[in-house]
Amino acid sequence: MGNTGWWQHGVIYQIYPRSFMDSDGDGVGDLPGILERLDHLTWLGVDAIWLSPIHPSPMDDFGYDVSDYTGVDPVFGTMDDLDRLVAAAHARGVRVLLDWVPNHTSDQHPWFRASRSSRDDPRRDWYVWRDPRPDGGPPSNWLRYVGDSAWRWDQATGQFYYRVFLDSQPDLNWRNPAVQEAMFDTLRFWLARGIDGFRIDALVVLVEDDQLRDNPPNPGYRPGRDLPYMRELSVWNVNRPETRELAARMRKVVDELGDDRVLLAELGLPLEQIVAYYGDSDGIQVPFNFELLTTAWDASVIAGYVDRYLAALPAGAWPNWVLGNHDTPRVATRLGPAQARVAAMLLLTLPGTPTLYQGEELGLEDVPIPPGQVLDPIARLVPGRGRDPERTPMPWDGDPGAGFSTGRPWLPVGDGNRARNVAAQRDDPASMLTLHRRLLGLRRQTPALVTGAYHRVEAAGDVLAYVRAAPGARWLVALNLGPSPARLAVPGPSLAGRVALSTHPGRDGQPVGGSLELAGDEGVVVECESGSPAPTSIS
Ligand code: GLC
Ligand code: MG
Repeated sequence: MGNTGWWQHGVIYQIYPRSFMDSDGDGVGDLPGILERLDHLTWLGVDAIWLSPIHPSPMDDFGYDVSDYTGVDPVFGTMDDLDRLVAAAHARGVRVLLDWVPNHTSDQHPWFRASRSSRDDPRRDWYVWRDPRPDGGPPSNWLRYVGDSAWRWDQATGQFYYRVFLDSQPDLNWRNPAVQEAMFDTLRFWLARGIDGFRIDALVVLVEDDQLRDNPPNPGYRPGRDLPYMRELSVWNVNRPETRELAARMRKVVDELGDDRVLLAELGLPLEQIVAYYGDSDGIQVPFNFELLTTAWDASVIAGYVDRYLAALPAGAWPNWVLGNHDTPRVATRLGPAQARVAAMLLLTLPGTPTLYQGEELGLEDVPIPPGQVLDPIARLVPGRGRDPERTPMPWDGDPGAGFSTGRPWLPVGDGNRARNVAAQRDDPASMLTLHRRLLGLRRQTPALVTGAYHRVEAAGDVLAYVRAAPGARWLVALNLGPSPARLAVPGPSLAGRVALSTHPGRDGQPVGGSLELAGDEGVVVECESGSPAPTSIS
């Protein structure tokens, strides 16, 4: 595969459209809003935007319940608005990726309305319908995400349908070739309109065992800590071999229009299973690596994972890193604001494609949602797991609507996040936004940080340090993952150099010799004096 694809060099920015920018004052972000704020993204320096779903939807799961895969929901605008956004993004050299939700539709999709209308309907087999067991119970013991049976009884037709997420998100039957073709056609529709690729939602639950074999219990289940469905080992309804085969076919569809279109996929699997989704011409280019979303924030743990991950990648596979998304608490809430800066440096200097979730460049924190204003249905189904706090609007300025909306934002902006707005941070050399912009700028100018080899230098105590090296260039990244000052003994003269960028302003240009002092919660990128033999690149 080499390392030539735009998506290998680029940084992918995830937009949650409801919360990015509202152009019409209804309190919900929209496509003309994204267009209005495109300059922010090019100024920041991202290469691609991935839009969470924008299709017609009852919004039970805020767009992840699609009722028309080839349309645009009026709350977000029109097809023309999307075409304009894509054209404007392309004119700025920014690619546009859509979120594709193949596992399930909305129950309001015409396919499901037909499917549930009668057992004889031609669409019946487009979803997963089964008779009860002889005792009247569900067809298998499989659990859905929120922990109860994944089978939902349908009184009218006397069968169960399968659904991993909400009742209103019935799973499609991907064993049916007509479903496959209809869904592949939705990809073709958007590719022909100039869309540069897709993030595949919930790929791992696409297909289930056709014999409905029961899952075994999970002996390692930690009640209260693990999601409730984890009390079973989901061996028969998650990550089935058929899903991997279908991923290959998705890749073929996406390659029909050339090789610069890309597939990202949400898998949420251990790394040994993630890497199986790679494949030169029959795999997913970016099977998401979610490790940084949940890892213990510990130098040896993170360095150990990097080693195992890079070693597990098949030849030609390109790594990737995800630090935040619309399903996970904000980085600054998880790690604290000071470590969020170090984490940004880690994300943007590890080998592989980073995805950056909107607002992380501002250091946004989770917004506590008052009980009466909770909107995410998951918050009701799994208390404590609601995702509203990380989906609150982008603050653009200090106005009451934060420059996001002239109306009442659909979720509260939060006073803390309002103060972290773009206008307030843009010209502040010490801001999180400036740090992100400088990191992105440095990546762009520094091939070693993008395609260079990775060598671990130190992973002890709170210090994580590594070198990125390319012919004639060596860059040292040294991160202090704790609040106390730390020292890295820089081994050998080959790592001496100058600080190119620190999370702590004021260190630029400082020489680095035999050792490197790091303040608490500080990370630095050091440009080393070259002259030492250049290791080979990572791919
Ligand atoms: C994915 C999405 C999440 C959604 C779920 C169901 O995990 O990221 O937001 O609720 O799929 O589509
Ligand atoms: Mg609007």
